[in-house]
Amino acid sequence: MEADTKQILEEALSRRTIAVISHPDAGKSTLSEALLLHSDAITEAGAVHGKAGRRGTVSDWMDMEKARGISVSSAVLQFKVGEAVVNLVDTPGHADFSEDTFRVLAAVDAVIMLIDAAKGMEAQTMKLFEVCRARSLPVITVINKWDRPGQTALELVDEILTRTGMRSMPRNWPVGDSGHMLGLLHPDAMSMNRYVRAPGGAKKVLAEPLSAEIAETEYPVEWQTAVEESSLLEVDGSFYDRDAFLSQEATPLFFASAVQNIGVEELLRFLMEEGPHPQDRPDEEGSPHPITSDFSGYVFKVQTGMDKAHRDRIAFMRICSGVFERGMVATHAQSEKPFPTKYSQQVFGRDRTTVDTAWPGDVVGLVNASSLRPGDTLYAGQRVMFPPFKPFAPEHFRVGKTGDASKHKQFRKGIEQLDREGVIQVFFSERRGQQRPVLGAVGPMQFEVVSARMESDFGASVSFEPLEYSVARDIDEQAAEILRERQDCEVLYRSDGTPVALFRDPWRLRTVQRDHPHLLPDPPGSRTSGSATARM
Ligand code: G4P
Repeated sequence: MEADTKQILEEALSRRTIAVISHPDAGKSTLSEALLLHSDAITEAGAVHGKAGRRGTVSDWMDMEKARGISVSSAVLQFKVGEAVVNLVDTPGHADFSEDTFRVLAAVDAVIMLIDAAKGMEAQTMKLFEVCRARSLPVITVINKWDRPGQTALELVDEILTRTGMRSMPRNWPVGDSGHMLGLLHPDAMSMNRYVRAPGGAKKVLAEPLSAEIAETEYPVEWQTAVEESSLLEVDGSFYDRDAFLSQEATPLFFASAVQNIGVEELLRFLMEEGPHPQDRPDEEGSPHPITSDFSGYVFKVQTGMDKAHRDRIAFMRICSGVFERGMVATHAQSEKPFPTKYSQQVFGRDRTTVDTAWPGDVVGLVNASSLRPGDTLYAGQRVMFPPFKPFAPEHFRVGKTGDASKHKQFRKGIEQLDREGVIQVFFSERRGQQRPVLGAVGPMQFEVVSARMESDFGASVSFEPLEYSVARDIDEQAAEILRERQDCEVLYRSDGTPVALFRDPWRLRTVQRDHPHLLPDPPGSRTSGSATARM
């Protein structure tokens, strides 16, 4: 099939590729289900996502995930809303996997940020806002759980402003306090929706539109309060400015109760009408690579163990330009080797379907793509390479080793593989030897994943020896030579050959910096200690 420029543009314009992100327990899975429910992709909430007890817990690919009730892996769900196609990319909820989240967010054009009405901005919420800023991603904010007592609407708006610098543009506003929700006011129309719960709770709630006059008559105090409060957020006679949303100066704000499906329909409508569509993506040199050029795609996630029976490994790729057609021979930009695309799939819950054609914004799973790693580019025709991921600075270090001498080969192979997938960072030094690599993680739970994967996929158990380092810095060879002589840091090599200096704490780093300021300049925008965006 020869896709012309017009068709590629039309398909791209109809795509919305997004992620729902939040601090754990704010309602990410519940909202994802609710979005699907409203799109009619599923007919009963709980069929796709969900935790233990709910049907079809597809996010729980690994036993560890099941045990902890967290989602380590990322799934991609595609569904249609009218003529539009939504690609909903799932992200790991736990802070220990924030590097993974950062990579996944390279695949989306906007995010829905959920905030629990009672808890406000939590630790992971702040980290995620930072990641979105670093990625220049427009953020739609949803205050969830409005059916339960929580903070006031204005307190939450104020908190968002003071902690992120973003003002809120209300797309709806609660009538009634949290825990006493009567309905939602729509600032543009100055009308209200009252909700009637359907029996059983799992079906869509029914919205009953009320004019301002009726709302005022029925709820004189609450309606007046909602009108007054929301109008405090009016700027130049308007509640909404699309440019401010796209440039992240402001965030469209929704109040919702995901569990009751309240506020979800308007959120979906906003996404369709105002959500950004896929655009030209900057290449390695920073020049925009036109969306209408030949096929190109960006690998953002490699996932193993999604299907225990097959022990397969799927590389998830976002289409950046052109049209992807199954069977086409693409080129892997990093190796310049041909890459066959015969086994391309879409993963929807437990179901997998073969993908024959995909357009910019879509996500395709490439099965058994063992040569691909997160950050890689595939292209056909005109050569392009997108910038690779810069690794996060790990903050936890352990020596990994296997107790069973007969398993050294499996151990080496396994560690190499997990490094390639981005599960863990691997460092070596002559002093420590190849059998005792140093493993670096952003969050300690990554070590549990390593342990589980080494055992189940490679048959090699691994034990860890903690190291008391918490700060890592990329250095050059000249610095490596000098720092190797010091007692207060250790020089290792990352698996890609980059020398890295490890320090026990930020104070040690500062001491060494004072002695050798030219060897260890602070990287722009980084902090010495942990931060979601601290890169090496
Ligand atoms: P997560 O993916 O962000 O971790 O959160 P998840 O959707 O699993 O929701 C966490 C808990 O919050 C769940 O309760 C869920 O039912 C509840 N929840 C989500 N949205 C709302 C809401 O709008 N209002 C209220 N009141 N609760 C909400 P749980 O007890 O942990 O699980 P479950 O047994 O209810 O599934």
